Amino acid sequence: MEIAVRFFEDKGERCRYALEQVKAVLAEETDLIAGLANASSVLRLLLPDLNWVGFYLLREGGLVLGPFQGKPAVSRIAAGDGVCGTAVRTGKAQLVPDVHRCCNHIACDLSSASELVLPVYAGERLYGVLDMDSPVTGHFDEDDQTGLQPVADAVGCWISQIGA
Ligand code: SME
Repeated sequence: MEIAVRFFEDKGERCRYALEQVKAVLAEETDLIAGLANASSVLRLLLPDLNWVGFYLLREGGLVLGPFQGKPAVSRIAAGDGVCGTAVRTGKAQLVPDVHRCCNHIACDLSSASELVLPVYAGERLYGVLDMDSPVTGHFDEDDQTGLQPVADAVGCWISQIGA
């Protein structure tokens, strides 16, 4: 499998290309771990200035670390804890331009400066989150949130399809 690594100045185009490529790797797979592993790899390759990208999966009310790219991370996060746990508690995306000004942030990689966490819904069911960290303060904005939520939605749709 070969992903064409293309870079776009325009954020919208970049997000659309990432969505297309994530859908392409998922279409070839029916195993949860394999699909999420490749999805995180594609995002790491195509989105600039990320030091961590991956999934946390909701298991018995708390988050468990899933496939990711980056440094080792905390493997369990309770609902309501940290930025990821807040996404679970609220069911909504969390955009944190500066993690050092966020009191409810769990530091996994000290180089992380900003974070975007998107909920992954398999139909009506919150299945987990897609977590992205950047070493650049203010790296993520509402355009990223809007542009990348369809990636999380595509992952959720694929999870429903494979019956995970
Ligand atoms: N910062 C996250 C923890 C996970 S790491 O970023 C990979 C949080 O506050 O939930």
